[in-house]
Amino acid sequence: MKRCIALALAAVIVGGAPLMAHDDVTNPAVKARMQAMVDISLASQWLRQMASEKRPFSKPFAEKSVATLMARAEALPELFAAQERDHASEAAPQVWTDREGFLAGVQAMEKAAAGVDTSSAASISATLKPLLDSCTACHKTYRISK
Ligand code: HEC
Repeated sequence: MKRCIALALAAVIVGGAPLMAHDDVTNPAVKARMQAMVDISLASQWLRQMASEKRPFSKPFAEKSVATLMARAEALPELFAAQERDHASEAAPQVWTDREGFLAGVQAMEKAAAGVDTSSAASISATLKPLLDSCTACHKTYRISK
């Protein structure tokens, strides 16, 4: 029971919903793209936590989070190139039927990540919204939430 509470707390501290373990994903190509999203999700949560001072501000850590976002975003076009399937995947068919729109979504995220000002907690807070909006915008069309 104690362990459960500790785990639940850890999930809250990491930022909301516990992230999926991907043990049930059998297609390695799908696993790789889901893992990229998990990395993106973690990096954006760290920035959010620093912005709201739930996590102590650290400039190197903030810079590393932005670098992770940029690197993973850069990999998305390739990771989502082939229409790989898996029962656990949440990718909508539009990823492949509207590739141009999907790539525009990736670009929007890259631009928003580059625009995060990592000088202070307050500056992250003031510049983070476009990044979080870019997640929602893409998920609305290209991700099916299960
Ligand atoms: C260009 C489109 C796009 C952008 C931008 C995007 N995502 Fe995603 N995201 C997806 C798609 C598509 C999936 C489903 C992938 C699958 O299951 O095959 C996904 C899945 C996820 C998942 C679930 C991963 C898992 O374990 O299955 C998380 C968490 C996530 N995204 C977080 C984020 C966050 C946070 C951001 C913004 C910082 C973001 N995403 C930006 C398209 C995007």
